[in-house]
Amino acid sequence: AADNFQRLTLTGKHVLVTAGPTQEAIDPVRYITNHSSGKMGFSIAQAAVEAGARVTLVTGPVQQTTPDRVERINVTSAQEMLIACEAAMPCDILIAAAAVADFRPEIYTEHKLKKDTDTDDGLILRLIRNPDILATLAKRSDRPFCVGFAAETQNILHYAAGKLKSKNLDLIVANDVANTAIGFNSDENAISVIDRQHKQTHFAQTSKSKIAQQLIEFISKKL
Ligand code: CTP
Ligand code: CA
Repeated sequence: AADNFQRLTLTGKHVLVTAGPTQEAIDPVRYITNHSSGKMGFSIAQAAVEAGARVTLVTGPVQQTTPDRVERINVTSAQEMLIACEAAMPCDILIAAAAVADFRPEIYTEHKLKKDTDTDDGLILRLIRNPDILATLAKRSDRPFCVGFAAETQNILHYAAGKLKSKNLDLIVANDVANTAIGFNSDENAISVIDRQHKQTHFAQTSKSKIAQQLIEFISKKL
């Protein structure tokens, strides 16, 4: 019966999920990235599809199997992720679980960088800001219900509430990535969700798939 209820809650809705890290190329053989496994985003996509939604999952490079009935779009860089998300619009709900690289190398070098005499003292790599995918989509006139993730190592709820406001979100999921039991790459998570009214809801530590189901149920009630 509980399953049945869940299956019906997002029927007819299109859910767009971002997941995984992005990779920002330096040259043909090198890149900048982070430790995101994609597990949380993939679990959310699966929970949304089980709740009856049509799900588009835009993901950076990860080792995860695609949940049944989820449309998966693979991307590499943050810029590609933004383009893929814009192409997947409109959607009813956006859940931005990706750990998007905030910066990319200003210059992509077409050939492999060599250790020439200019670099005896080291190499300075200049980085520039990537677009903010979530904030960009939250500014559109066909803006969906927007859910962000705040990966923090300190002042978690304070920073998360700041992101909710600055990116104009409906919900922010605060995540303590300093705690290795629940952070990047782990199988479990514990989250606090903050809404526009500053109401906090805590979900205790459990598997990422259970957290994802609880989050999807919570979001469907807020719609
Ligand atoms: N995000 C995004 N595009 C970016 C950076 C972040 O869509 N270029 C999204 C993430 O997917 C997440 C939310 O914004 O849902 C918050 O990401 P986070 O890295 O915690 O916050 P930032 O705004 O990047 O701030 P900082 O890293 O400085 O804490
Ligand atoms: Ca960031």
